[in-house]
Amino acid sequence: MKLWITTAILASAIALTGCQETDENDPPSLHEAFEGKFLIGGTLSDSMLENASDPGFAIVSKHFNSLSPENCMKWGNMNPLLDQYEWELSDRFVEYGHNFGQEMVGHVLFWHSQTPDWVFEDENGAPLSKEALLERMRERARLMAKRWGDRIKIWDVVNESIEGDGSWRKSKYQQILGDEFTELAFRIAMEELPTDAILLYNDYGMTDPGRRDAVVAMIQDFKSKGIRIDGVGMQGHWEMSYPALSEIEDSLTAFAATGVKVHITELDLDLLGRGKFFGANVDIERLKADPATNPYPDGNLPPSEEKRFAERYAEIFDVLLKHHEKIDRVTFWGVSDLTTWLNGFPVEGRTNFALLFDRQFKPKPAFYRVLETARKR
Ligand code: GLA
Repeated sequence: MKLWITTAILASAIALTGCQETDENDPPSLHEAFEGKFLIGGTLSDSMLENASDPGFAIVSKHFNSLSPENCMKWGNMNPLLDQYEWELSDRFVEYGHNFGQEMVGHVLFWHSQTPDWVFEDENGAPLSKEALLERMRERARLMAKRWGDRIKIWDVVNESIEGDGSWRKSKYQQILGDEFTELAFRIAMEELPTDAILLYNDYGMTDPGRRDAVVAMIQDFKSKGIRIDGVGMQGHWEMSYPALSEIEDSLTAFAATGVKVHITELDLDLLGRGKFFGANVDIERLKADPATNPYPDGNLPPSEEKRFAERYAEIFDVLLKHHEKIDRVTFWGVSDLTTWLNGFPVEGRTNFALLFDRQFKPKPAFYRVLETARKR
């Protein structure tokens, strides 16, 4: 652990000390530009956590003052079998964020995806009783609180339990616990996590009216019952023309009106688009890349597309800044285009463009347009 963290700190230091001859190698810090508005976050992937000299650390340490784990804390990664716990990558994540004073996010306590079947089954493979599943969930919250509760303040308690039409997702959690799954999960989080933990409900498609209304109703219901919910995570897996800026504003306003803060938790812009695979539902069947779905396989984007992409990012940040008092944090889902999950979703093997840093870890025109939005205010 000591060796890993020392190497990661050295990799991070490259950003702070080295290569200052061109602006491209030493751009201004993004989180400093947004100081006083909201935190700017990024993620650490498992591959970064396995390779302390990953060049992405130079970006992470300089530009982000909040940090989310891409995968290592999910139930299936952390606890793949009943009695098997994998702590190492998550411990490294927490150690790194702590060293750089970054506000860390516990992602995610309860999600229907990346959660192994054993969680919902007894030793004979039969569905667990409601009480047994609740006990298992409580145990997970307790373990995470004990290990990282003093260092992680923001927690995604439940991910994606509401469908676009506002109904409860028919997940294994819902099959066993019924429509109270999300409420019971928040009760557990409230009881097991430290009292100063910030508890979030996190979902994609939060600009869809059905889901937006259901989330607002859920927050009001929780508050009337004395169940703590401190914020809403709008994932922000957005595309070039979805959602409309007005829909983003409507959701920010609707969520803030309930008295909670908004966190943009997983921001990326899918330049190539999802076509008929609307949304960011990870359950869909994936396609294989072909010339029609993968038009820039060598990673070179025509300047007109680069400009369109930068414009869209700037428009989104203009909206976020306009509503900055409603927003605590804006986290990018990933570090550079080289490893964005959108290279593999919903089409496998694409060369996609989603973030502010390119495949060589250099800031893209979109980076500078986003920076300008902060400077204008
Ligand atoms: C959801 C999850 C994230 C991540 C993305 C896809 O949004 O919350 O952890 O898995 O899907 O990568």
